[in-house]
Amino acid sequence: MSITADSSRTLAGTPAADATPAVAELDTIVSLAKRRGFVFPSSEIYGGINAVWDYGPLGVELKNNVKRAWWRSVVQQRNDVVGLDAGILMHPQVWRTSGHVGSFSDPLVECGACKRRFRLDELPGAEELTPTQIADPNIVATLALKCPDCGGTLSAPRRFNLMFKTFMGPVEEDASVIYLRPETAQGAYVQHRNVRDAARKKIPFGIAQIGKSFRNEISPGNFVFRMREFEQMELQLFVRPEEDATATFDEWLPRRLEWYRAYGVNPERLRIREHAADELAHYAKRAIDVEYRFPFGWKELEGIHNRGDFDLSRHSAESGENLSYFDPATEQSFIPWVVEAAAGADRAAFTFLIDAYREEEVRGEKRVVLALHPELAPYKVAVLPLLKKRDDLVALAHKIRDGLSREFTAVYDDTAAIGKLYRRQDEIGTPWCICVDVEALDDNAVTVRDRDSMEQERVGIDRLESFFLDKLRASRP
Ligand code: GAP
Repeated sequence: MSITADSSRTLAGTPAADATPAVAELDTIVSLAKRRGFVFPSSEIYGGINAVWDYGPLGVELKNNVKRAWWRSVVQQRNDVVGLDAGILMHPQVWRTSGHVGSFSDPLVECGACKRRFRLDELPGAEELTPTQIADPNIVATLALKCPDCGGTLSAPRRFNLMFKTFMGPVEEDASVIYLRPETAQGAYVQHRNVRDAARKKIPFGIAQIGKSFRNEISPGNFVFRMREFEQMELQLFVRPEEDATATFDEWLPRRLEWYRAYGVNPERLRIREHAADELAHYAKRAIDVEYRFPFGWKELEGIHNRGDFDLSRHSAESGENLSYFDPATEQSFIPWVVEAAAGADRAAFTFLIDAYREEEVRGEKRVVLALHPELAPYKVAVLPLLKKRDDLVALAHKIRDGLSREFTAVYDDTAAIGKLYRRQDEIGTPWCICVDVEALDDNAVTVRDRDSMEQERVGIDRLESFFLDKLRASRP
């Protein structure tokens, strides 16, 4: 049975129009991210570079954990999916065949007065335009759209190709133009036969890939939501035509939704939205976006696409290689269809970060907590000596941290009083803190504090590793 995407309701069944974002102002997250070392503007000492962000010590841990959680779910736990790490640079013919050279573009308008450029469908008053309206060359005049910066007259829209170009080799000429990939998917299509043969897979099977992609977005923004350099987590499922593609689509959509929910995203801020016929990408037979209620509105988190046989039949025709599959069961050959679950690593990490943000009042004081799922939290455990002037406590705390770090990320901190140290760890999402107090020297036990309940319990030092491993295993979806 086919799933119908009702974008008027959230996954929890509540009206989507009533959904409130986890934080009212995006700035709350942007400033926390910079202050605590999750994300910094790229090349900041030179004034920054628009739409590129660098992940700091905590951000790189968070994003790695998100990628690991995705990989575990779509590769490690599946017997029918294998991994691939294809190059960013590919033969330029790949992008002509895929249709990206011809049609991977956004509608651009330019102000005649200030010369600033905008994406047409992001201008005030044009956000709800349908693809048919966007393609209308008279739309700017019809809607009397003006430059949002200076009020100047805007040009008619023209298509702007989003691919970055560069040159391969020492000669900068047309013949040596190549592209930075705008999606990882094509790597899986052109390697599909090699992977299938080497991994001895039969249709249906899948190829998963995580890697950088690049798009020269006209209007990037909203922090790491839309960047020009970003990371994708894409799963390509190669299936029998038509009915199997429909069934695979219907099987993976709820599975992908459940992944976000299992790692902590509130279902009242998740919904699905079906693409209208005139909105479908050039390759798609059907597409549903998984959307999240960001502080700046409902936006795409991941796309699930039924791509039909577009990719493999085009690559077969253009390369001259036979990419069809001979099915020994039916003794027939066919071009596999592709169902794709295309997610963004940055966008997912950003979503988990926003959705985990809480402000609470504890004994009359504000407490900021990132209630991140333990598997996603940058540090699993913080080891904090109660008295930093006691060398014996400090040495024991270091010894505990070093032991735990064999299994997971653990951090030592003694730069403030214990109450403040707890608050700092709450703010970066560390699920458990260990306080090493004077009694530890006698009873060989420490106090473990839980981030969410703030409850404390005494745990023997020799039991700590298994204590946390058990908790981490129990939390895992
Ligand atoms: N292979 C299909 C494909 O690339 P897409 O919807 O264009 O589909 C998939 O991209 C996902 O990649 C998006 O849902 C989003 O999470 C992420 N993504 C796309 N463009 C992005 C950008 N400029 N910045 C950050 N993430 C982006």
